[in-house]
Amino acid sequence: MERLEEIRKKIGECDDVIIEQLAIRMSHIQEIIAYKKATGIPILQPEQEKKQTDALEAKLGDCEFEEEILDIFKYIMKNSRRIQAKSLFDYNIFLIGFMGAGKSTIAGELQRKLEMERVEMDQMIVEKQGMSISEIFDEYGEAYFRNLESNTLIELQKKSQTIVSCGGGVVMREENADHMKKHGRVVLLTAKPETIYERVKDSDERPILNNNMNVEFISSLMEKRRERYQQVADVVVATDGKDVVTICEEIISKLIALDNADEKKKAQEAEI
Ligand code: S3P
Repeated sequence: MERLEEIRKKIGECDDVIIEQLAIRMSHIQEIIAYKKATGIPILQPEQEKKQTDALEAKLGDCEFEEEILDIFKYIMKNSRRIQAKSLFDYNIFLIGFMGAGKSTIAGELQRKLEMERVEMDQMIVEKQGMSISEIFDEYGEAYFRNLESNTLIELQKKSQTIVSCGGGVVMREENADHMKKHGRVVLLTAKPETIYERVKDSDERPILNNNMNVEFISSLMEKRRERYQQVADVVVATDGKDVVTICEEIISKLIALDNADEKKKAQEAEI
């Protein structure tokens, strides 16, 4: 029994060292982020994570616990991304834009890269109503759906540091747009009508396009919405011909530039 207590004590001592070293490691992560933020170096560096894993594997050599230790490091890295996001964005990120602009895809990638929470407004509505968007339009009409969107946004008020992928028409209501501005930064994703058409043409999940699946209709609806989208956006990113990682990096660097400018302005105002 005494022997068992002795071993447990040793394990406790190991935990002390791990905790201490993890806290140091995490503070270095914060330093890296502050450095990247100040210098404008890309935040997402997928090749770096790969390098780190390779280095770890080399360090572990033929260690008996290689698999288990590598598994632990997966969580360490995941949490590094979380720390990174926490120090970058202390607000919600609302992704807006026309149907097929890539909001859901980009929200998913940002969620993976930044370990932030993510919500899909349309998905929330579908789950709550137990009906697809097309069924809601068919049964109750568009105005009813728009009310559901506004209510969903109100429900999202309690969220923080969350990526919200919005339905393409949400910002057309002024109250919704005001709400987004108040509770986070708004990122507009754009794409040419031809690009949108290519992305959505095989889907029948968008009632507004179901009987209008052509470039002319997309183009004219986009034109009607253009001014509002631009007005509401804090940041605009064109998605045509770009891959997902490039788009995410552009969003992050534009948001950081905006935050830096805001901080500078606040500091100048404080001096006056
Ligand atoms: C709509 C966009 C859709 C969905 C609904 C209406 C719109 O969302 O909310 O079909 O008016 O632009 P996505 O933009 O995610 O396709």
